[in-house]
Amino acid sequence: MSDPLPIPEPPRMFGSSWTPESWRGRPAAQEPNWPDAPALDAALTELRRQPPLVFAGEARQLTESLAAVAAGDAFLLQAGDCAESFDAFSADAIRDKLKVILQMAVVLTYGTGVPTVKVGRIAGQFAKPRSAATETRDGVELPSFRGDMVNDFAFDAEARQPDPKRLVQSYHQSAATLNLLRAFTKGGFADLGQVHQWNLEYVATSREGRRYEAVAQEIERALRFMDACGIDLDAETQLHQVDFFTAHEALVLEYEEVLTRRDSITGGWYDCSAHLLWAGERTRQPGGAHVEYLSGVENPVGVKLGPDAVPQDVLALCERLNPARRPGRLVLYSRMGADRVEEALPPLLRAVRMSGHPVVWACDPMHGNTFVHDNGYKTRRFEDVMREIRAFFAACDAVGVWPGGVHVELTGEDVTECTGGARGLSDTDLERAYKSRVDPRLNYEQALEMAMRISRHVRGRPSSARY
Ligand code: PEP
Ligand code: CO
Repeated sequence: MSDPLPIPEPPRMFGSSWTPESWRGRPAAQEPNWPDAPALDAALTELRRQPPLVFAGEARQLTESLAAVAAGDAFLLQAGDCAESFDAFSADAIRDKLKVILQMAVVLTYGTGVPTVKVGRIAGQFAKPRSAATETRDGVELPSFRGDMVNDFAFDAEARQPDPKRLVQSYHQSAATLNLLRAFTKGGFADLGQVHQWNLEYVATSREGRRYEAVAQEIERALRFMDACGIDLDAETQLHQVDFFTAHEALVLEYEEVLTRRDSITGGWYDCSAHLLWAGERTRQPGGAHVEYLSGVENPVGVKLGPDAVPQDVLALCERLNPARRPGRLVLYSRMGADRVEEALPPLLRAVRMSGHPVVWACDPMHGNTFVHDNGYKTRRFEDVMREIRAFFAACDAVGVWPGGVHVELTGEDVTECTGGARGLSDTDLERAYKSRVDPRLNYEQALEMAMRISRHVRGRPSSARY
């Protein structure tokens, strides 16, 4: 169907040759080897016909919220599964994940005194970069599992073949997830009057649950106070609805390409698969396909930076991804590992600050602290995760940069994938409820504890820590 409105050409830089498919002319790390080209074409044709999952106007709204983070006036909470899966798909799991994020956000807003921008790693986070292209078990070598968007986790030759029908299934699961998230966040569930109801039963009696309850009671008292002062709380939409945005790693570029649509208002191109997209530590080459793709869409975008990132690369990324220096357009996620932050992060913070690029600095305290335990489980220690956050804050404070947020992997379930935290999960607990097929996530209690500790930390910083 043709669009009845004339669509102006998007603003282009002189000499720019970006199109939604121009990434195809660049080297793409981590690309699956799709074995059946006609099947891939059929899946992409089907996806091209599907409606957008998010609107350009919403992505612009997130850019605005992130501009407030870049200016030091808000905090970013980005959280969700390492990878969503087709099997573990249920309304309860989505609701519980949203509950933890809302609870963390309330704790952070209450503690930091600035708004929390809420972004889920959800409704599209189906593809994973892998450190090795193949996996060998008992002498049998097969392609690595790359997430449900690409292949199946089962260790057999057929299951591990990339299957393009999975692109279509990912789209539909994302649509259903997003539909539920929209209903929850706009339909009363996220009402601040419900703060008590978000506390999941199994933590209500734990230390973190009780601490959360105390915050919830304070909020309730504040609402009653405002009501008593004659403020019409019903009329304040902000108290009854929540802006919740979605994000995933833009890894399988064929999928992102076909969901890239021209905005009929501005004429710009938007990746309508999510509000925010990021490139990972393994796909952030300034001349590579992923950065090329992200450079041309108008959504806010992010890049993960590991301990080997050097100022020159980071400045090249800032120039490639945000030449117009729009505040809120670019998020840089530091994921150094607790032991490396102090040495690796300050040079990057200083270089970006000197360049004048208005980025959001956020901390991913998970991916630099993963290790495989002797018992075979891939895990993280809660204390390492917290240590990385503290070191991130200290580095930002020392350079005079606002520590803008955190990006974490968590679940609303009572899993035992990361050790430590209030219940002191030990190595031997890992086997009890280890459900992740990729990276270990914080469980509900650990996630709440993290939010409490961050807000105490922010509150306790000297008021001279200005940015
Ligand atoms: C991730 O976010 O799940 C991830 C793989 O991150 P990174 O690219 O930083 O390792
Ligand atoms: Co991960």
